[in-house]
Amino acid sequence: MIWNQWYAILDSKEVKKNKLLGVKRLGERLVIWRNGDGTLTCLADKCAHRGAALCRGKLAGKEVECPFHGLRYDATGKCTVIPSRGASVPVPENFKVKAYPVREHLGFIWMWWGDERKTYPDIKFFQNIDDKFSYETHACPWSMHYSRCVENQLDAPHVPFVHPDTIGRGHATIIDGPYVETGDGEIKFYPEMRKEDGTPSKLPKEMERPDTRMYLHFIFPNVWENNIIDKLKVVAYFVPVDEENSVVYVRGYQKFVTIPGLRWLVNKISNRLNQKILHQDKAVVETQLPKKTNLNMKENLFPADSPIIAYRKMRHELQGQNPSEKQGN
Ligand code: FES
Ligand SMILES: [Fe+2]
Repeated sequence: MIWNQWYAILDSKEVKKNKLLGVKRLGERLVIWRNGDGTLTCLADKCAHRGAALCRGKLAGKEVECPFHGLRYDATGKCTVIPSRGASVPVPENFKVKAYPVREHLGFIWMWWGDERKTYPDIKFFQNIDDKFSYETHACPWSMHYSRCVENQLDAPHVPFVHPDTIGRGHATIIDGPYVETGDGEIKFYPEMRKEDGTPSKLPKEMERPDTRMYLHFIFPNVWENNIIDKLKVVAYFVPVDEENSVVYVRGYQKFVTIPGLRWLVNKISNRLNQKILHQDKAVVETQLPKKTNLNMKENLFPADSPIIAYRKMRHELQGQNPSEKQGN
């Protein structure tokens, strides 16, 4: 994984008040909960005593109690009591678990994966989405490293083949360009698709920035937006579970229907369609080998893969900033 980043890890709805949730994210077992006041705590889910899962324990106020021998941990991961020693005995410093900084933004939970800091950078999300949008989310586990999930959404030429009865209707197989913009941990590209007409596709370098509002936008490390129109977006969150597994969350955001009942219906219908499209992708992506991508790998790419090439280059550069013990992930 890329170090020193905020990773989208969970839909806000998945973490309930006063209830422990055990999940695996970025290869780590985590326990996460929401206190009565809505604040979140996220700790490594492995007791510092003898490794039991804290998520199987219980909450005692704002602390989690291990189910095995009752050690309690506060929000900083510090053990506050060892019952077998007695509450009056101070707990040694080494009885602690890692606490992960977590934040919430527009109905999603982000976790900081990186060095501890006094202050953390802001979460980078799409500026054109605000709390005026309503949404419905579909979450789906994919048995694939998250890099493959990301690349699937940077891939225009698959659309007529994988989605012939949904977004790929019309069999527009030629991809001109696409025009790709990169910078500051972001990739934007403008897919231009047309039917086979006997002429070759234009190369990315022959393209000018199209005069269109429709574009696809990826922000490192793991969020993507299909910017359909001002009031309608589809966002995918590619959540890393471990080296071979991810959860892909797809969320349709809209603000053109505001009447409550109708809004609910429109969001449900769009969610059904997003779900169908995502499952069409999953069926093919889960067959790809290897399960994880890298800059230098034995694949033969063509010009329409240029957003994927941009992604691999940028990811490689960002991984280069990982501390040495984090290299290679
Ligand atoms: S393993 Fe958690 S208290 Fe012993
Ligand atoms: Fe797709």
